[in-house]
Amino acid sequence: MNPVISVLFVFLLVILNTTVLSIRTVSSSDTCDPANQRDPQSLRWDLITVLINGYSEYRIPLLQSIAAAYSASPIVSSVLVLWGNPSTSTEILSQLSRNLSLSSLGTASISLVRQSTRSLNARFIPRSSIRTHAVLICDDDVEIDRESFEFAFRVWQSNSDRLIGTFVRSHDVDLSRREWIYTVHPDKYSIVLTKFMILKNNYLWNYTCGGGATMAETRRIVDEMRNCEDILMNFVVAEETNAGPVMVGAERVRDWGDSRNENGGGGDGGRGLGSRISSVGLSSRRSEHRKRRGNCIKEFHNVLGRMPLRYSYGKVVDSVGEQGLCEKGGKLMFCDH
Ligand SMILES: *[C@@H]1O[C@H](CO)[C@@H](O)[C@H](O)[C@H]1NC(C)=O
Ligand SMILES: *[C@@H]1O[C@H](CO)[C@@H](O)[C@H](O)[C@H]1NC(C)=O
Repeated sequence: MNPVISVLFVFLLVILNTTVLSIRTVSSSDTCDPANQRDPQSLRWDLITVLINGYSEYRIPLLQSIAAAYSASPIVSSVLVLWGNPSTSTEILSQLSRNLSLSSLGTASISLVRQSTRSLNARFIPRSSIRTHAVLICDDDVEIDRESFEFAFRVWQSNSDRLIGTFVRSHDVDLSRREWIYTVHPDKYSIVLTKFMILKNNYLWNYTCGGGATMAETRRIVDEMRNCEDILMNFVVAEETNAGPVMVGAERVRDWGDSRNENGGGGDGGRGLGSRISSVGLSSRRSEHRKRRGNCIKEFHNVLGRMPLRYSYGKVVDSVGEQGLCEKGGKLMFCDH
C-alpha cells in the first residue's frame, strides 16, 4: 500500500475508534450528567407527563386504552409507555409503538420507550423528554376516572414537594420481634404505591443520581430483591421533605392487577407473576409479598441509619360539601338526603 494512504488509513481508524468510544460513553453513562438535564426553568407547572409501566403482552389492549384515556386530558403534556419486558419481540414492540402513536385522543403524544435494562430502578430514570415538573407514575392495569386524575394533579400543584397517590401502605415496627414491617393501617399511611403516584420530576434525579454511595447501595438492594423501587422512592421523598405523602380519594378506580379480581389478575404491579397465583395460593403469596417488602424497609433503614418515612392521616377528597347528620322521621340520616 502507498505509505501516504496507509498513514491516512491508520489515522481514519483512530478517528473512527475514538468516535465509537465517545458515543458509547455518552449513551451508557449519563442520564446523570447535568448537561443532559433540561433547564428546570423551562419545565411547565400547568401540565403533567404520564409514565406508564408496561410489562405484560396480554395486557396490551388495556394498556392502550389507559394511555389513550390519559392523552385525552388537557392537563397531559405527553404519555410515555416504559416497556420493561425484555422478552417482548421487536416486531410486537414496533406494532405497539405504531398503535400507541395513532391512539392519542388529544394533543398529548403517546410514545413507547423500550427499557434498556431489566432493573426496576429504570422506571425512575430522569428523561429529557419530560417537559413538566409533575410526573405521574402508574401501572398498565390501573384505570382511574378523569376527574379524579385531574383533581389529584391539582392537589399536587399545591403540595408539589409531596408524593400524591391513591393506593397507600404503611411501615411499622413489630414490637415483639423488634423489626420493621410493611403493613396496612386503617387510619394512617406512610407509603404511596406506584400504581398511581404523582411526584416532582426532580425526584427522579434524586433517586437515580443523588445521594452518593448510600443511594447507590439502596438501588442495589432494589435490584437484588427485584422489588421495592416504589418504597425506595418514598424514602427519597420523605428524606427531602421530612413529611408523609398525601392520599387523594378517587371517584372510580379499577385495579385489574388486584389479586381480589376474580379472573386472577396480575398481582404484583405488572411483574408478570400472574401465572403463579394458582399454584401458590393467594393468602400465602400475599404474606410472602409483605415479608419481602418488610425486608426492604429493614435494609433501607440499615443503609441510611435512620427512618425517614412519616405518617400522614386522612385523605383529600374532591368536595367540600358538609355531610352533617340530621334527624328526619325519627331516624338519623345525612341532612342532604
Ligand atoms: C396493533 O393494531 C392492529 C390493528 O388494530 C392489531 O391487529 C394488532 O394486534 C395491534 N398490535 C399491538 C402489538 O398492539
Ligand atoms: C435532590 O435534588 C435537589 C435539587 O436538585 C437537591 O437540592 C437535593 O440536594 C437533592 N437531594 C439529594 C439527596 O440528592
